[in-house]
Amino acid sequence: MRTPLVIGNWKLHGSTAEVEALISALGAKSGVETAVCPPYVYLSQARGLLAGSAVGLGAQNCAAEKSGAFTGEVAAAMLADVGCEYVLIGHSERRTLFAETDAHTVAKVGQALDAGLQPVLCVGETLEEREQGHTLDVVLGQQNAVLDAFTAEQLGPLVLAYEPVWAIGTGRTASAEQAQEVHAAMRAKVSEYSQHLADGVRILYGGSVKPGNAQELFAQPDIDGGLIGGAALVADDFMAICQAANGGSA
Ligand code: 13P
Repeated sequence: MRTPLVIGNWKLHGSTAEVEALISALGAKSGVETAVCPPYVYLSQARGLLAGSAVGLGAQNCAAEKSGAFTGEVAAAMLADVGCEYVLIGHSERRTLFAETDAHTVAKVGQALDAGLQPVLCVGETLEEREQGHTLDVVLGQQNAVLDAFTAEQLGPLVLAYEPVWAIGTGRTASAEQAQEVHAAMRAKVSEYSQHLADGVRILYGGSVKPGNAQELFAQPDIDGGLIGGAALVADDFMAICQAANGGSA
């Protein structure tokens, strides 16, 4: 039985006042693991505000290197040091806007695992790739790059997130059936590496998840929660989505 996981990706939003207001309005939901990923500079503030709360903390990215002359980078071990439990890796905005490749995601997953973090590997196709019938090639290719680089034992903490690029921030969500089809293919591919890992790995859906569509998405057998962008900046919406991950019960 996989515990549902809902993560809020705040992207490039926030201020000390907004972090305080948003986190103060969040609460844990029974039966669901939840976490928020503020920008790096607010992680320590968020950690303090989350003290005593079951809501977890994650970062949106980490360096591909452990330490050294890499100006502007933040190491996975530093994230663990300030109290993070998760780190997003390979978000489509990183891949498209910051030229991250599969080689980068592999290195970053390695750093995250070494630091004791749960890496949340994001994969997803563009609209053009979907229309050309390449969805599974792209998604499984991004996933396999990481699966090929580690043992199933090493990948125990891994979380996967399917985020179709065309559904991110567009208001256009994959239908529950479209998402389930990809999630099932992702899990089937993981099972070729390890059935145990496939049974346990959480596969989150991300892309315009809102309170109104969350329950139908999360009801799919291979959708184990969500990676939430815009709606994670509105406390009531994020809480409603977390509740939907527990089958709608409070
Ligand atoms: P939206 O929920 O705003 O579409 O963003 C999804 C996302 O990119 C989460 O990582």
